[in-house]
Amino acid sequence: MPNTKELYDALDRVIEEHIHEPGALMPVLQGAQEIFGCVPMDVQKYIANALHTTLSDVYGVATFYSQFSLHPKGEYLISVCLGTACYVKGSQKVLDKLSELLGIPVGSTTADGRFTLQATRCLGACGLAPVMTINEEVYGRLTPEQIPDILAKYRKDA
Ligand code: FES
Repeated sequence: MPNTKELYDALDRVIEEHIHEPGALMPVLQGAQEIFGCVPMDVQKYIANALHTTLSDVYGVATFYSQFSLHPKGEYLISVCLGTACYVKGSQKVLDKLSELLGIPVGSTTADGRFTLQATRCLGACGLAPVMTINEEVYGRLTPEQIPDILAKYRKDA
């Protein structure tokens, strides 16, 4: 596991590579996401400084694009679709159940770093509504009653 200095050294190399390009912020943020696994506030400040731009510029881009995450993600990323087809079939109730069972609000990660819970737009599987994914696995036609068993499967390999 690289230490913090090694991570920042790697980020410096990405910054050096792009600093003279007009749209440097985007590739630098992508590099930071790859190096750190997310783009927390300290890293955003570092980038703002290095690129001579403002923190609000960096923050604006980092929060606009869903490929960037501001917080470390859990081992299992649970994404519940709140697109129209899923929503009308009750995906909010599925999301609420997950939030209750995991004991965390949407958009956060459990204290043990195992699960991150998030809501997403249409996942392109509307025929299976309501849909959620856990990492690469897709679950369709969900009801809140199925959630405890599904979660138990992932908790077992703790
Ligand atoms: S609306 Fe949920 S998959 Fe399309």
